[in-house]
Amino acid sequence: APQFAYRGNELYAEDTPLARLAQEFGTPLYVYSRQALREAWQAYQHAAEGRNVLICYGMKANSNLGILNEFKNLGAGFDIVSGGELARVLAIGGDPGKIVFSGVGKQASEIQAALQAGVKCFNVESEAELQRLSQVAQAAGRVAAVSLRVNPDVDAQTHPYISTGLKQNKFGIAIEIAPRVYQQATALPGIEVVGVDCHIGSQITETGPYLDALDKLLILIATLADQGIHIKHLDLGGGLGIRYSDETPLPPKTLLDQVFQRLNAQGLGHLQLVLEPGRSLVGNAGVLLTRVEYLKHGEARNFAIVDAAMNDLLRPTLYDAWHGVEPVLRRDGDGNTAQTYDVVGPICESGDWLARDRRLALRQGDLLAIMSAGAYGFVMSSQYNTRPRAAEIMVDGARSHVLRPRETVASLYAGESILPW
Ligand code: LLP
Repeated sequence: APQFAYRGNELYAEDTPLARLAQEFGTPLYVYSRQALREAWQAYQHAAEGRNVLICYGMKANSNLGILNEFKNLGAGFDIVSGGELARVLAIGGDPGKIVFSGVGKQASEIQAALQAGVKCFNVESEAELQRLSQVAQAAGRVAAVSLRVNPDVDAQTHPYISTGLKQNKFGIAIEIAPRVYQQATALPGIEVVGVDCHIGSQITETGPYLDALDKLLILIATLADQGIHIKHLDLGGGLGIRYSDETPLPPKTLLDQVFQRLNAQGLGHLQLVLEPGRSLVGNAGVLLTRVEYLKHGEARNFAIVDAAMNDLLRPTLYDAWHGVEPVLRRDGDGNTAQTYDVVGPICESGDWLARDRRLALRQGDLLAIMSAGAYGFVMSSQYNTRPRAAEIMVDGARSHVLRPRETVASLYAGESILPW
């Protein structure tokens, strides 16, 4: 995002030098830009203008309360996948009427809490879940609004780990049997059918997979209408990609123009469109700051051993993901001293790396910014090797706010106990 840019040789977040934040709060450190969040949101708002669209932030991408509150104030709803995420939305006073509840494994207690809160819709992923939902709703004297998450069997052409719309995935209900399951749903007490839902994958940069899925959903919607089932909204999930290196992201407006063209052509312009974007709202609004502890020059490879690790940012290890690495202080004239480094963490695993084969001019003690770390960064972090999770900071112009302090080591084992000896 343009909010993370050099001024002279110094990398800034908005009007704040990253070096100053590292000095003040230590490293590893997640730094977010408030303005970058707003601009990412505005791209969706622009796409939604004059249309019946509800953007439910896929909060699994970054669920810090400080981030959620920004989106709440901008008008977002939320796509949640657990009782824990529900609790976070309620903690910031989010509107339950704008919450959709996704996920293949909803527990009865989570369903109860969501019914109690009054969520907009449950995105149901199996017949067994439908049965449970009906029972829990009936017992609570409530009616659960339901979309079936159908699996349209399209290839999102993305990493297999984050592709979810294919038959072999655990997600959703096969589109062929969806009409029957919908029929079943309408017959169940405690269930009200309100929508159709799908989510085909993540980091998608083409309209093709979305439109393929949409075409299949439109056929389903027509079939349902023939069965007398009239839905109110269509949820196309999340998945819009961001630029990590040289990808060309798909602007929300490009997608929505084409989606509404098809909806209107089918006489379905009245349907509410729900989207569940995660990565595209926060991914490029955050960086992970880390300091070089040691340089290690070997025969086969050079290593920059930094103080961030796979426990802080798992994406490289888990998906072979590529994140940009930028020096926080660019050294002029050091171009000829640049070497090719693997940027690795201190964890005792060969898989503990953040970047490979990068040309960098480095000295011990230098600060690096791991780019595009706002989505699926902190939320996927762990405390492996008894490493406290990093602090999270939000920059707003020249000011910075602590969204989450660095964990203390003592807090990591505070709940543990030992047996009498
Ligand atoms: N809706 C549903 C039902 C989802 O499963 C997801 C993401 C989203 C919305 C948001 O998708 P997005 O707009 O962020 O692509 N940890 C992986 C990504 C996993 C995505 C899981 N589902 C990564 O770091 O790339």
